[in-house]
Amino acid sequence: MNAPEPGPFERLETADGSPTLVHPRFKEAYSSVHGALTQARKLYLELTRTHLDPRPRVLEVGFGLGVNFRVTLESALSRGVRLEYLSYEFAPVERSLLESVEVPLEGAAREVWGEVLGRWPEVGSPLEPLRLSGEWGSLEIRFEDVGEAQFPRVWATAIYLDPFSPAVNPEPWSLEVTRKLHRAAQPGAWLATYSVAGSVRRNLTQAGFAVERVPGVGKKAWLLALCSRSG
Ligand SMILES: C[S@@+](CC[C@H](N)C(=O)[O-])C[C@H]1O[C@@H](n2cnc3c(N)ncnc32)[C@H](O)[C@@H]1O
Repeated sequence: MNAPEPGPFERLETADGSPTLVHPRFKEAYSSVHGALTQARKLYLELTRTHLDPRPRVLEVGFGLGVNFRVTLESALSRGVRLEYLSYEFAPVERSLLESVEVPLEGAAREVWGEVLGRWPEVGSPLEPLRLSGEWGSLEIRFEDVGEAQFPRVWATAIYLDPFSPAVNPEPWSLEVTRKLHRAAQPGAWLATYSVAGSVRRNLTQAGFAVERVPGVGKKAWLLALCSRSG
């Protein structure tokens, strides 16, 4: 017998008024219900110091609805720095869903986002990497499972570890993936994630990150991890 078809994506308003969607199979929201935009800005952009970096290179696990990308792009454009953003996504949503989740953007960032939407793969088409570049920087989305993907070596200044929770989506939090993330990070790079699960802390530590719990917004804590390798 076939598995039942998952239902539609449910739209939610999060605590800061910004929207998110709930995934019908994972039954989890794409962003924090305590504030989708707040999480993107405070946890991913600011705790990784990406908002201060003169040459940010972000590696993201889970492009999802592109909220973290849009917030990071807006920040880089407002500071006049080039952004390089590499994101992995194994189950891209339909373009209409991406369009339905608004993030306030100024002119140049809105144009880049329009280009992303214009190049977004059609349902059923082969999932070739989506690559965009311009004066603002570059975006590459690889439609791959991070369990199998090859990450660049010693590349990222920041890692946004943002899959669904380890309870429902354990693979991207595994020791194997966290080791690959460590190898992908430049020394001194920061990794941020919303899960403080013991297994996540242990895997990150074993992979070579110096891990700390930091106060979260609307929840008790987030995790911040420093790539402490030298060389
Ligand atoms: C919490 S959402 C990410 C939200 C996103 N960062 C944003 O700013 O909108 C998690 C995403 O991770 C993706 N994902 C989960 N496991 C993955 C894996 N093994 N490889 C690649 N992507 C994965 C899911 O398909 C989903 O889109």
